[in-house]
Amino acid sequence: MSTLTEVSAYNDDRGNKIISPTTFTNNIHVTFRGSNNTLIIDPTAKIGWLKVRFDCDNGVLELGGRSPHRGPLRADVRVGQDSSIRVGKNVTTTKLCMLVAVEGTSLTLGDDVMIASDVEIRTDDAHPIFDVDSGRRINWSKDVAVGNHVWIASRAIVRPGTSIGEGSVVGLNSIVKGSFPNNCIIAGTPARVVRRNVAWERPHLSNSKPFYKPDASTVKKSKYWNPTEVEARPVAANVTPWARIKRRARHHKKQLIGLIRH
Ligand SMILES: CC(C)(COP(=O)(O)OP(=O)(O)OC[C@H]1O[C@@H](n2cnc3c(N)ncnc32)[C@H](O)[C@@H]1OP(=O)(O)O)[C@@H](O)C(=O)NCCC(=O)NCCS
Repeated sequence: MSTLTEVSAYNDDRGNKIISPTTFTNNIHVTFRGSNNTLIIDPTAKIGWLKVRFDCDNGVLELGGRSPHRGPLRADVRVGQDSSIRVGKNVTTTKLCMLVAVEGTSLTLGDDVMIASDVEIRTDDAHPIFDVDSGRRINWSKDVAVGNHVWIASRAIVRPGTSIGEGSVVGLNSIVKGSFPNNCIIAGTPARVVRRNVAWERPHLSNSKPFYKPDASTVKKSKYWNPTEVEARPVAANVTPWARIKRRARHHKKQLIGLIRH
């Protein structure tokens, strides 16, 4: 196992590598436990606090860049076997956010996602649960895809198998699982669509002028003002076709092994 607290271009003899033209020295910990893991950091990325654990083999973590006026990323990240996490451009976090992908899954955050305090986004439940009679696993790890310009409010938890369309808002304290469309508010436990046809913008209510914002003329409108579509569309996962084929092949192999065992 190797832990790095200064991160720049790196290769080790187990095939782990870091692709980063920039050197990051503050508040960063990257641990490689297995082999063939890859960390890719955009040269313009801004890191406030980052802990990454590559627990197994063949993991990928990709961190997008950001414009100079955007805040840093603070995240506690775990990447498991054959899994990938991709964080888009200009993704911001208020405090520490937990991101986890394991068991051949992918977790994708689109561009301009805004994550409030104490949010967890994960493709797994951390421990397996089995049906007592059949011995079959009931809580499979599943891909998560969060679209561009989604706002995830404080203490929300995004669970395995979730996709959220672009421009949507996840309400505070919500537990989110399932497929949700664009430009809606998703809230509650379990979370449901509680409002459609909404758009949100980043300017803070008290930190940016004007200090009253009663209508859309008080903000610069982003490109994410759209009516909510009736059905949730799959969110583009930013996964290369080759990676997708490899992941599908691994998934089928896993299913086959499961069938042979039972
Ligand atoms: C999503 C949010 C904006 C509420 O939106 P809203 O449209 O004003 O919601 P309303 O209060 O009109 O509620 C609409 C319905 O959704 C429900 N609802 C709204 N937010 C909810 C939440 N977080 N959890 C559970 N239910 C919620 C309401 O109970 C209401 O249900 P009803 O129609 O059965 O009465 C708010 O819940 C929220 O999360 N704010 C973010 C705050 C935050 O985290 N700020 C941190 C800085 S980034």
